[in-house]
Parts: sequence; C-alpha cells; structure tokens
Amino acid sequence: MKIKNVIFYISFLLISSVVSLKPLLANEDAKGVVKERMANFKMSKKMMQTIHKSIQNEDFVTIEKSATTLHKWSKEMIKYFPEGSDGAPSEASANIWLDPDGFKKAVNNFELASLKLINNSKEKDFDKTVDSFRSLAGTCKGCHQKFRN
Ligand code: HEC
Repeated sequence: MKIKNVIFYISFLLISSVVSLKPLLANEDAKGVVKERMANFKMSKKMMQTIHKSIQNEDFVTIEKSATTLHKWSKEMIKYFPEGSDGAPSEASANIWLDPDGFKKAVNNFELASLKLINNSKEKDFDKTVDSFRSLAGTCKGCHQKFRN
C-alpha cells in the first residue's frame, strides 16, 4: 500500500467512527429517564416560581393547582431513578443508590410537604400557606444537598 493510501484509509476509519458514534451519544443525552427527570425538575422550579408569585397575589387556586402538580411528581419520582442512571450529564449523586432509604425519605418529605401546601391553600389560610411553601422549598434543598452533585 502506498503511504498516501494508508493515510487515506486511516482518516476514513477515523471519520466513520466519529460519524457513527456521535449520533449514538447525542441520542443517549437526548432521551431516556435522565432527560425526563430533568424536565420534571425544571417544571418543579417553574411551579415554585408560580406559587411564589401566587402567594403575593393571594391566588390560592393557582397555588393549589401547582402544588398538586408537584405532589403528583413526588409520587412518581422514585421510578425516574433506576440504578445506574447516574454519570454525566446527570447530576444525580451515587448516594441515591448507596442510601436508598435516605433517598426515599427525602422523596417522602417532599410528598408530605406538597400535600400540606395543597391543604393549606384549599383552606385559603395565608400564614399557613406561606409556612408550608417554605417547608416545601426546604425539602427541595434538603434533597439536593445530599443527593445532587
Ligand atoms: C428527593 C430528592 C429531590 C427533591 C425532593 C427535589 N429534587 Fe431537584 N433534583 C434532584 C436530583 C437527584 C437532581 C439531579 C437529576 C439529574 O441530573 O439526573 C435534581 C435536579 C434538579 C434541577 C436541575 C434540572 C436540570 O435541568 O438538570 C432543578 C431545577 C431542581 N432539581 C429543582 C427542584 C425543585 C424546585 C424541587 C422542589 C420543588 C426539587 N428539585 C426537589 C433531587 C431532588
């Protein structure tokens, strides 16, 4: 083989491997349970912003609606963390699977806090609603400190 052909052959191999690998990796990033849970957490942040605004407006109906969306998510969250679903681009900490009871407890705190906010907003009790909103935000933070990288 002439040296030119060898170079051509090697660069062909390199290019084809890059071309065939890239879509695979991009696909892995773009779909699956990691992408879905990230979307749900982004939605959670939006819900918290909406609730914050609605508290200022004393819009208890919107608070209840948003808290209900969060409560539904809390009940499904565990399913979105199958073993081995950590690693880039995910920020999920390995502690989720090293300490599954601790993680379940953090999910449960979130579930109970969102339920409390639903109930307090139904009662249209301003002070209690503010209180349970703060506790709910605390459960986001609490879980992130232990279980998010
Ligand atoms: C029981 C644990 C837990 C609770 C409760 C929790 N989070 Fe998270 N959150 C995580 C983990 C773990 C990740 C990292 C997920 C990943 O990257 O795979 C995350 C990621 C996020 C992200 C980044 C999403 C992205 O685009 O990568 C946001 C924003 C977020 N959470 C907001 C919230 C808010 C707001 C709340 C409360 C209303 C909340 N989280 C409650 C565990 C939790």
